[in-house]
Amino acid sequence: MTEHGVRRLGIVGGGTMGAGIAQVALQHELHVTLVEQTDERADAARARVVTALDKLVSRGRLNEATRDSCIGRLATTTRYDDLANTEVVIEAVFEDLAVKRDVARRLAEILPADSIFASNTSSISIDRIADAFPRPEQVVGIHFFNPVPVLPLVEIVVGGHTSEATVHFAEMLAELLGKTPIQVRDRPGFVVNRLLIPMINEAALLLGEEVAAAEAIDTAMRLGASHPMGPLALADLIGLDVCLAIMETLAADLDAGRFTPAPLLRRLVADGRLGRKSGRGFFDYDK
Ligand code: NAI
Repeated sequence: MTEHGVRRLGIVGGGTMGAGIAQVALQHELHVTLVEQTDERADAARARVVTALDKLVSRGRLNEATRDSCIGRLATTTRYDDLANTEVVIEAVFEDLAVKRDVARRLAEILPADSIFASNTSSISIDRIADAFPRPEQVVGIHFFNPVPVLPLVEIVVGGHTSEATVHFAEMLAELLGKTPIQVRDRPGFVVNRLLIPMINEAALLLGEEVAAAEAIDTAMRLGASHPMGPLALADLIGLDVCLAIMETLAADLDAGRFTPAPLLRRLVADGRLGRKSGRGFFDYDK
């Protein structure tokens, strides 16, 4: 039992984010039960966590005994019933409202009446997910950043029905995981993406208008604004398809004129140039 009383974290979805959240929770001595869709995906989620912990061991940042105890506290499963005694569950399934609502409905049937249901969504309204949960006051956004073990911020997304007690619980959990929480209202893009993605979009506009070369734009923001990496390199890391999808959400839900995606961003995505994951984006990673 930790000093706050949270012992066990439930996670639904063990992809990039779910596995990252699991790793951090294990390293903070929680027990983790992670639910995936199939046995293969559950195994893949486990492998993701184990590989990440092994990497820390090989770099001398984690000892073998701690790694083994972390792995010993991880249960991966395909059965939602295994979450029956969990006081908090974070979903990190696909960014798809219907999938998230389905998860909310399934969890509502098995979770204890006072447990918290959190979503790691990066762009879907918490209220629309909470609609599918019979106790919307116990639904909150806990938005981690990628890579979860590295980035210290968590946006606590307060929905229209989220109770104060739920918000405090979410903040406590974030701190328990070594993160710094900030409260944000349930508005498109929350804070980070609302600031970051339009900046990336503007960098794509500058490049499209041939105001400066890609390297020059990135150098400008690194040396002129002290950003650790330039906006175009960052876009390649996030994925240009992800950046485009967020711009489209901001345009649809906030202001179509202010958040129009840059034509160059659309073109690169249409050409399959998605950034690092496809080998090419604004920059070339094949070489
Ligand atoms: P991903 O595609 O890597 O992983 C999603 C996982 O959910 C898959 O392994 C899939 O099998 C599983 N899944 C889907 N439906 C399921 C269900 N009904 N039951 C159990 N498991 C199910 O996606 P990723 O990137 O980890 O994103 C997950 C969530 O986190 C999304 O809502 C995304 O918007 C959000 N997010 C993503 C960030 C990123 O940089 N990738 C950053 C912050 C938030």
